[in-house]
Amino acid sequence: MSFSVLGTGMYVPPKVVTNEDISKLVDTSDEWIVQRVGVKERHISTNETAAEMGYKAALEALENSGVAKEEIDMIIAASVSGESISPSVSCMIQNLLGVKCMAMDVNAACSAFVFMLETIAGYFARGKVKKVLVIGAERLSRVVDWDDRGTCVIFGDGAGAVVLGEGDNYIDAVFHVRGGSDIIDIPQFIGKSPFFEKEQKKPYIHMRGQETFKFAVKSICRDCKTLLKNHDLTFDDIAYIVPHQANKRIIDFASVMLKIPEEKFYLNIERFGNTSSASIPIALDEMNRKGMLHKGDLLLLPAFGGGLASAACLLRW
Ligand code: UT7
Repeated sequence: MSFSVLGTGMYVPPKVVTNEDISKLVDTSDEWIVQRVGVKERHISTNETAAEMGYKAALEALENSGVAKEEIDMIIAASVSGESISPSVSCMIQNLLGVKCMAMDVNAACSAFVFMLETIAGYFARGKVKKVLVIGAERLSRVVDWDDRGTCVIFGDGAGAVVLGEGDNYIDAVFHVRGGSDIIDIPQFIGKSPFFEKEQKKPYIHMRGQETFKFAVKSICRDCKTLLKNHDLTFDDIAYIVPHQANKRIIDFASVMLKIPEEKFYLNIERFGNTSSASIPIALDEMNRKGMLHKGDLLLLPAFGGGLASAACLLRW
């Protein structure tokens, strides 16, 4: 027993920030951002927290699944941009929903959606849960250094959610972690202890773009190929690859290296930017509502990012 996806939801804040808007803040251009990243615009929160966006995505997913909030046994959420360390984003969403179920967060940055699915598969396997809400919710505009043109052009805010129920459609996943803060780092406020001697690093996203890029392409290719090999499948058996939306050029490279057409990848980074843990559930919700997903379709969901961590799972719709 693992689970099946019963419904999907997403929420993005109404304010749209275009590349032209960003080029008024830092020395960049629409041309550079489109060519190097593939983003035209992103949604940015003006007054909503990560948890509030996650709550709205959760409501959409509940409605889409036909599951009542009282039926949910557990909320599992991820965010690298929640407003507090405690309460966790999942606890805040539980509070907003007005339910009493168990709630916890998983911290695996941009790969967190797949880490959450694997975690929750264990709860289903042990018969501990029947219905679960899985949510990625990000207000990355809070942790972006708006003076750093190397990062502020990439990220966006938003939330995606899925409702899971008992079933056998989560087939397998692979994970890789290469721990360290040298390539991607989002430091917290280190405190004001008079005894601690290290310097505070700015509490924003620090990213070595090219190293991240190489890690991403290598991870997508390796993780997708491993899953297919382990299950005696080929890319022809896969309806869609729904990757973490970090940079369109990462997908261009992966598609060339894997020798599969780019149409096999679902891409929406042009409109949302990189929304970290929310990007895959947002993509799934769009595909679901467009009628692109059919019962029995096999999907590959590869993700990669801070940690460094990468993950990919094989899911039957
Ligand atoms: O979800 C978490 C995972 N994150 C990712 O997957 C991100 C992966 N990496 C990337 O997406 C890309 O590496 C970036 C978009 C971050 C950067 O693109 P790049 O092609 O690797 O550029 P670069 O860092 O090698 O910089 C090339 C040039 C530099 O100028 P010089 O030194 O050649 O004069 C940068 O200063 O581009 C410059 N540059 C910019 N120019 C205009 C960097 N950012 C910008 C910008 N506008 N926004």
